[in-house]
Amino acid sequence: MKLSRIPQQVIPLTIIFALAIVALVAARQMLVPESFGKYGHYRADAVEEVASHDISYAGIQVCNDCHDDIVEVKQESYHRGLSCEVCHGPANNHAEAPDEYTPGAPRGRGYCPLCHGYNPSRPVGFPQILPKMHNPGKACMTCHNPHAPTLPHAPEECSACHREIASTKMVSHHTTVDCRTCHTVPKDHWSDPRAVHAEKPTDRSTCGQCHATGADSPKIIPRIDIETHGGRYLCWDCHYPHHPEATL
Ligand code: HEC
Ligand code: HEC
Ligand code: HEC
Ligand code: HEC
Ligand code: HEC
Ligand code: HEC
Ligand code: HEC
Ligand code: HEC
Repeated sequence: MKLSRIPQQVIPLTIIFALAIVALVAARQMLVPESFGKYGHYRADAVEEVASHDISYAGIQVCNDCHDDIVEVKQESYHRGLSCEVCHGPANNHAEAPDEYTPGAPRGRGYCPLCHGYNPSRPVGFPQILPKMHNPGKACMTCHNPHAPTLPHAPEECSACHREIASTKMVSHHTTVDCRTCHTVPKDHWSDPRAVHAEKPTDRSTCGQCHATGADSPKIIPRIDIETHGGRYLCWDCHYPHHPEATL
């Protein structure tokens, strides 16, 4: 094949490709660290580098050597899931030389609300407060032991923990219907709500006690035929029990 038959643009393209390959090979020689690939697809020296960093966290096991009283108390408390160093910061140097280094303690009012400040995205029932409204001006530790936080007295009202449901119901047609009309709530639900559950209605009869045609309830309460109304569904498949609406 004659050279003149090859399309004009191929020659510069070939040169560019050749240069690119040369550049790549050179870059690989110069830029890839020496220890790359020794053990696998990473830089072997990185292992030693990371291992050479100073250790700053000691872990809760170590605290137990000298503060076993606090570890024990915390282990039984609502804060059992929190490591000491979550609040006290890295404390390895303290654990090795307690006389030389003392870890700080977060005594300011700004700290605990990082976890307990109101935030609607937190799980249902997670203990939350509005720091500006909740006993302002006093350190949290005046009333709560950080190693064993319990409520100074269990709140009487369901709304203390179920604020959103309570305020929804407050402005609904069910404002006068007490929570306990529909929920059976064992006493210990107050002190240990996650272990002792409140019961939810399971069938239509809960609603029927007021809304069934023949029910013995005040006349202003609207009636439906409890057998047929809504077909085979549960009442709360269509009506939100904490804010029922008939005009769907
Ligand atoms: C070798 C024993 C020892 C170990 C291990 C140890 N501590 Fe201490 N810690 C002490 C002593 C002793 C004090 C009291 C020092 C003082 O009063 O100055 C103390 C005091 C403290 C204080 C009090 C600081 C203050 O402001 O009053 C905190 C907080 C603390 N330790 C946290 C920890 C944590 C967290 C760990 C685990 C990572 C830990 N300690 C491990 C011996 C130890
Ligand atoms: C929720 C945060 C939090 C956690 C978790 C926590 N602490 Fe504390 N700790 C504090 C606060 C706040 C203080 C200061 C208390 C005060 O000034 O009344 C404190 C005080 C201390 C003190 C000083 C003496 C005392 O009893 O007041 C020691 C020692 C201590 N903590 C060790 C520990 C150890 C060990 C752990 C893990 C078992 C731990 N802390 C877990 C927040 C925490
Ligand atoms: C890293 C997050 C975190 C920090 C920081 C924290 N807590 Fe907690 N706290 C929790 C968790 C988790 C629970 C357990 C909640 C549960 O049972 O669902 C809890 C529970 C509580 C409770 C509820 C106890 C009850 O009876 O319902 C109180 C009160 C409390 N903490 C106070 C404090 C105080 C005071 C501080 C600051 C010293 C603090 N917390 C810092 C995570 C945190
Ligand atoms: C004057 C005492 C006092 C102070 C100070 C205080 N609390 Fe409370 N806290 C209480 C009482 C009492 C309750 C029980 C609920 C109620 O009656 O409001 C409570 C309840 C809580 C709850 C549980 C709320 C729920 O809905 O489950 C959390 C979390 C809490 N406090 C965190 C804090 C934090 C964080 C601080 C500091 C910013 C703080 N408290 C300061 C007395 C106090
Ligand atoms: C001390 C706080 C607290 C108080 C007071 C409280 N609850 Fe609860 N409740 C909770 C928590 C936390 C949960 C979530 C439990 C879980 O998810 O395991 C819950 C769950 C529930 C549930 C759902 C159960 C389920 O199976 O889904 C109902 C219903 C309920 N509570 C009703 C009530 C009623 C009614 C009252 C008042 C008579 C009340 N609670 C008072 C904290 C409380
Ligand atoms: C008219 C009956 C009725 C009343 C009054 C009522 N509930 Fe309910 N509640 C229900 C029913 C029914 C469910 C189940 C809903 C479902 O499974 O979809 C429920 C569910 C719940 C749940 C589980 C979470 C959720 O939103 O589904 C909680 C928590 C709860 N109720 C708390 C309360 C509290 C607190 C009050 C009082 C402020 C209250 N309820 C009043 C009927 C009622
Ligand atoms: C203790 C009695 C009682 C019970 C139990 C009860 N309700 Fe009601 N309900 C009422 C009252 C009172 C009204 C408001 C009547 C009025 O003033 O219009 C009402 C109103 C209603 C309305 C009409 C709302 C509107 O837009 O007019 C619906 C729907 C409703 N309830 C559904 C339910 C469901 C579903 C249940 C069971 C989860 C239930 N109710 C249980 C007392 C009750
Ligand atoms: C399939 C959905 C559905 C189910 C299930 C259902 N409802 Fe209804 N309900 C409606 C609709 C839609 C309306 C409004 C139109 C009407 O009056 O029929 C209504 C209206 C009502 C009214 C108001 C009647 C009036 O005259 O103002 C009450 C009270 C009521 N329902 C209670 C209940 C009760 C109690 C149950 C359980 C036995 C239940 N509903 C089940 C859809 C349903």
